[in-house]
Amino acid sequence: MSVTKPKNKIIIAVDGFSSCGKSTFAKAIAARLGYIFIDTGAMYRAVTLYALEHGAIRSGIVDEEAVVKLLPQISITFRFNPERGASDIYVNGDLVEGKIRTIEVSNCVSQVSAIPEVRHKLVAMQQEMGRRRGVVMDGRDIGTVVFPDAELKLFMTADPEVRAVRRYKELKEKGMQVSLEEIERNVRERDKADMSRAVSPLRQAEDAIVLDNSHMTVEEQMSWLLDRFAEVTGTNPAH
Ligand code: DC
Repeated sequence: MSVTKPKNKIIIAVDGFSSCGKSTFAKAIAARLGYIFIDTGAMYRAVTLYALEHGAIRSGIVDEEAVVKLLPQISITFRFNPERGASDIYVNGDLVEGKIRTIEVSNCVSQVSAIPEVRHKLVAMQQEMGRRRGVVMDGRDIGTVVFPDAELKLFMTADPEVRAVRRYKELKEKGMQVSLEEIERNVRERDKADMSRAVSPLRQAEDAIVLDNSHMTVEEQMSWLLDRFAEVTGTNPAH
């Protein structure tokens, strides 16, 4: 008797610099392929928010020991939100999706994400979430540390000025008071911090494919991605 083998799902790792449109693109890929989208940056942001709200970060100074002490009491979960077509993030059952993208969190998240104990906890969670494959995971170390065996690895990049303008528009649309200069400074500082930290620094996996989307629309990126997906899996989802 012949047994039909279920179509193998893969892991798509989307790493790269901040504000490159990684999340937007990763979410679109997941929707296109019927995969689960996991925004790992949101997890580091959620820990940072919790640290801000519980006194482990004061006046922008991160008390690393205090953050580590808080870790056992932080439980992160995702729940699918059909309106957004993506999962919302919860900390200890509280919806924090709308609170994790402020400039206060952005200014401290690189330092929090450089704490080894924080990375250890979140990486273990991410590996568990991708155990059954069929996920598109976006972050900084997905193709290098979380899933070095991911079948398809993208490394996204774009000019810092283009990225700053994108994030500026995004925050303005949400009604936040920010200046373009402040955003560009934050983008450049986070690039530097993410690349130079001791634990899991941002770097391109040797087998990652670079996607510079400075001058590409999401549709053009999707068409490019589907070609790469077809090469890796031998299946061709129509464009
Ligand atoms: O993708 P993002 O900008 O929301 O990520 C927020 C921060 O979290 C970013 O400055 C670096 C950190 N991060 C990380 O260190 N590792 C990941 N896998 C994802 C994010």
